[in-house]
Amino acid sequence: MPAQLPLYLFILLLTLYLSYSLLSSLKRTWQQQLARRQLQLQVSRVRRQGNVIKIWLQQPQGQLLPSAKAGQHLLVSALDQQGKQVSRAYSLLSDCSQRRYYQLAIKAEPQGRLSQQLFLQLKAGDSLLCSWPKGHFTLSQPWLLPLRRWLWPASIKPLVLVAGGIGITPLLAMMFAALRQRRKVQLWYQARTKQDLLFASMLRRLPGLTFVPVLSKPHSDWQGQSGRINAAMLLQHAEKQSEFYLCANAIMVAELEQQLRAAGVKHCYHELFKAAHSKDNFAIELDGKTAPSLGHSSVLDALLSSGLKVPYDCRGGSCGQCRLTLLGGSCKTVLAPEFALADNEILSCCVQASSPLQLAFSQPQHNGPSSAITLLDLKQNNMEIQN
Ligand code: FES
Repeated sequence: MPAQLPLYLFILLLTLYLSYSLLSSLKRTWQQQLARRQLQLQVSRVRRQGNVIKIWLQQPQGQLLPSAKAGQHLLVSALDQQGKQVSRAYSLLSDCSQRRYYQLAIKAEPQGRLSQQLFLQLKAGDSLLCSWPKGHFTLSQPWLLPLRRWLWPASIKPLVLVAGGIGITPLLAMMFAALRQRRKVQLWYQARTKQDLLFASMLRRLPGLTFVPVLSKPHSDWQGQSGRINAAMLLQHAEKQSEFYLCANAIMVAELEQQLRAAGVKHCYHELFKAAHSKDNFAIELDGKTAPSLGHSSVLDALLSSGLKVPYDCRGGSCGQCRLTLLGGSCKTVLAPEFALADNEILSCCVQASSPLQLAFSQPQHNGPSSAITLLDLKQNNMEIQN
């Protein structure tokens, strides 16, 4: 064996490692650039129903919009009532096979900085800064669908969509896509009262859809299902082999998913808008200060509640502002992160502590409008970001 072989092997391994690191950081930067693409869209129409505003968005000159997958969302950025830039992720509910308009439905949350502003102020003709469609909570595409529909229709899994409140939005886009694929679709919709049922009249008339509204606080004249949606109720009308997509508050999703899996359901996917509060109490250390994790929906919430100045914006895993470096400890992901991260980084709005944590501020990134605003914001308030 030639004497240089170990040296050659070492050089080969080193080259492979360096190329891998270079490629993965290039890929991460490219993904981050993609995540930052933005559109200035025109509001062509708005309609308010109860505390929900429905918004139709178009390109200013009527050009086609970037294509979206059913279930994806837009990161909408605008000024809140204090004139501060804020971004929030809102699911697309429109039929994604057309690219003339996007439709959103936004619930005005009591503490909602952006949802309140849009509900109170937005009108047709306004413009909104939006990201390109993003998100991984998308409808699975059955392979060779036309052939299977012809040769082996039983192999195409029926779809069961389960929505709670405003969580219906991404499931509506999935419903349109599945009906176009001529799949069997059930849409279960949990709401408190009849008035809270969005799009009910359209859903009741939609051919091919089994629409089941369930009210937790029905009026005496209500003829439909009442109570809370549970796995037993669903599996009375749906096969275990079906694909289940859940979108509702964290508690409803966690309970339902657990019940369905316990009943033998294999294909169950969910999207959360906000995680349930942590029941564990771990010390989270950042910048020499400590914050308890108990009762907070994310590490970010825990740090902010203890007065630590962590940059943030979307609170939903899209903007990357709340990135921190993980020096020690472990986390569990509670919201699906969109932003590409380095191996030792976390999005503090998407995780909860699953052990004591040691964190540090990550290197700031200067290649996006939102990061510039956050830095400017902090400077105006005379605060420093510790690197
Ligand atoms: S605040 Fe936007 S990703 Fe966490």
